[in-house]
Amino acid sequence: MDEKILKKEYLKKISRLQKYNLAYYDKSKPIISDSEYDKLKKEIIDFEKKYSFLKSSNSPSLIVGFKPSKNFKKVKHKVPMLSLSNAFEEEDLINFEKRIINYLDKKSDFKIEYSVEPKIDGISASLIYKKGRFITGLSRGDGKEGEDITENLKTINDIPNKILGKNFPEEIDIRGEVFIKNSDFKKLSNKFANPRNAASGSLRQKNPDETKKIPLKFIAYTFGFQKNIQIKSQTEFLENLDKWGFKINPFNKKITSIKNLLENYKYLEQKRDELDFDIDGIVYKVNNFELQKRLGNVANAPRWAIAHKFSANSGVSKILNIEIQIGRTGALTPVAKIKPVNIGGVVVSNATLHNEDEIKRKDIRIGDIATIERAGDVIPHITSIEVKKRGKNSKKFIFPIKCPSCGSSTIKDFNLITKKNDAVRRCSSEGYECEKISIEKIKHFVSKDAFNIEGFGKKIVENFWNLNLIKLPQDIFSLDYNKIKDLDGWGTQSAANLKYSIDLRKDISLERFIYALGIRHIGLENAKLLSKHLITLKKFLELSKVDKINELLNIDGIGETQIKSIKHFFLNKTNLNVINELNKILSIKESKAIEKNGPFKDQTFMFTGKLNGISRAEAKSLIEQNSGSIVSNISKKLNYLIVGEKPTKRKIDIANELGVKIINQTVWFKMLDKRS
Ligand code: IVH
Repeated sequence: MDEKILKKEYLKKISRLQKYNLAYYDKSKPIISDSEYDKLKKEIIDFEKKYSFLKSSNSPSLIVGFKPSKNFKKVKHKVPMLSLSNAFEEEDLINFEKRIINYLDKKSDFKIEYSVEPKIDGISASLIYKKGRFITGLSRGDGKEGEDITENLKTINDIPNKILGKNFPEEIDIRGEVFIKNSDFKKLSNKFANPRNAASGSLRQKNPDETKKIPLKFIAYTFGFQKNIQIKSQTEFLENLDKWGFKINPFNKKITSIKNLLENYKYLEQKRDELDFDIDGIVYKVNNFELQKRLGNVANAPRWAIAHKFSANSGVSKILNIEIQIGRTGALTPVAKIKPVNIGGVVVSNATLHNEDEIKRKDIRIGDIATIERAGDVIPHITSIEVKKRGKNSKKFIFPIKCPSCGSSTIKDFNLITKKNDAVRRCSSEGYECEKISIEKIKHFVSKDAFNIEGFGKKIVENFWNLNLIKLPQDIFSLDYNKIKDLDGWGTQSAANLKYSIDLRKDISLERFIYALGIRHIGLENAKLLSKHLITLKKFLELSKVDKINELLNIDGIGETQIKSIKHFFLNKTNLNVINELNKILSIKESKAIEKNGPFKDQTFMFTGKLNGISRAEAKSLIEQNSGSIVSNISKKLNYLIVGEKPTKRKIDIANELGVKIINQTVWFKMLDKRS
């Protein structure tokens, strides 16, 4: 064969390999199977052996141990690994503290003590210790289920194998951050974009010897499951971690008041560049464990903690184009395509422009020179543009009033709460009638919290859509694998893998199913509430009847907005058809009714007046945790009316008339005490 053709062929293979590496490392979304990857790697190496003139610095023969394994055992976390909500400015902190004070029903001058810890930008890990010995180490995974990376974690010197210090709980999982020091990162060849990627790549190596080559560090900061812990606060826990032999962050502090939090924030932000590890913010945790327990969690983040993010890195680049993306709910989002620019170690080529109003307010135009900010995992955005550098031909950007995908008119919803029109413009078509919305709906359908179909990434959805392989969610379950195996980048094995992943999800819980439908305003939490209330798909389908839907108002957390959206959803024939077709293929598991065996089993409660030392929200959550329920209408069926300060007299009168037991807060607390 001609040398030129051979070289072209060889470089094509190398560039394919790089594409797969990128998908695997940077996006954590592999696009081919392990065996196909290995096959390609072997082909390249064989080529090089046969034709010695073939060389590339990106050859897999030069880069060793690049490909980590996907084959780690999956293990459920006994206590989920939560994430943190973010705060960016003082106001966010004020609101955070206000929410806590309200929830705990404390006076506004109540002083909250915080454990204040730098937020290291690494990879979190959970280390299970039994009787003082390190047994299993897990990655965070999706927060509920992680990967067993014990052997790799064992190579990290900062992780003690045996705990000798006193008072170490009989069983505990210690959680913290795995990271690489900036100085060590500099010594590595430039295989990784930033220290975080290096830590992540190294932790997921198949061979622990590869992990060992990269000097990883571990800093401990919290715990998950534990037996018999005798510690009362986070700062006390951190002190103990130190005594037990774990590394803790030398910049940890105990601070009271937002003013002092802000002072410390400024101090660390300045100090940031001098540190030998990357931090992207500071974590504030309510110090007292008792209060943490009372505060509990919202969705997947605790109420008692927040991450105060540092201001972003920024860069300057040219806006090449403004594209309109259409989301799953029809929202038209303008995105600036910018000349690729490296911002803090990440190459940025897109920046969100949020909405039409934002473009108008900043008068952002194609061709403008813009400053782009990027903060951690938040999508980059444009902060300002340089009007002076604008060319003569620069024209105002005209936002489309018709959906660029299906041509339908666009609308701005009237917001019932703000009494204003939304800033977001939406396609007025009915979901599957608009091509772009359909594609986004299918991406959502296969996504992690919905059907969680492994290996079915966004690019694949787009590709299959363009090839007419899928148009509606039900098509996913009757794919033509004969066609798929012959597609570019596919093969018999990867087609079989996809089939396997899809078949695995034919058994699905009702809550995932409802969430997967992508009804506007029905996120994970609301889907859970609906499925717990409705139990079966049949009952869910009955919501298409007007009289049934209003029953949903009894579910706490479901309001007018959600009901309006569900009504709208069921008015559309395609939506009903999708559910019916899916019902023929899938086995949708009935949802378990909420645990009904607590001490308040079958008991209903109602409050009137202000309670002391506890907010309504916490009181309600306490009743529900003990299997009781709160009702909003007073009737004979009500078991207890709990009376606080300044009650509504009418409620007490009716309760008396109906023979409902009337109790005060002390009696109610006693009932709660009895339960433990
Ligand atoms: S506490 C429920 N403490 O931040 C509390 N997290 O967005 C959850 N992180 O996944 C974690 N430093 O990887 C906590 N001192 C610290 C932390 C910290 C870094 C990371 C961690 C977590 C993420 C949450």
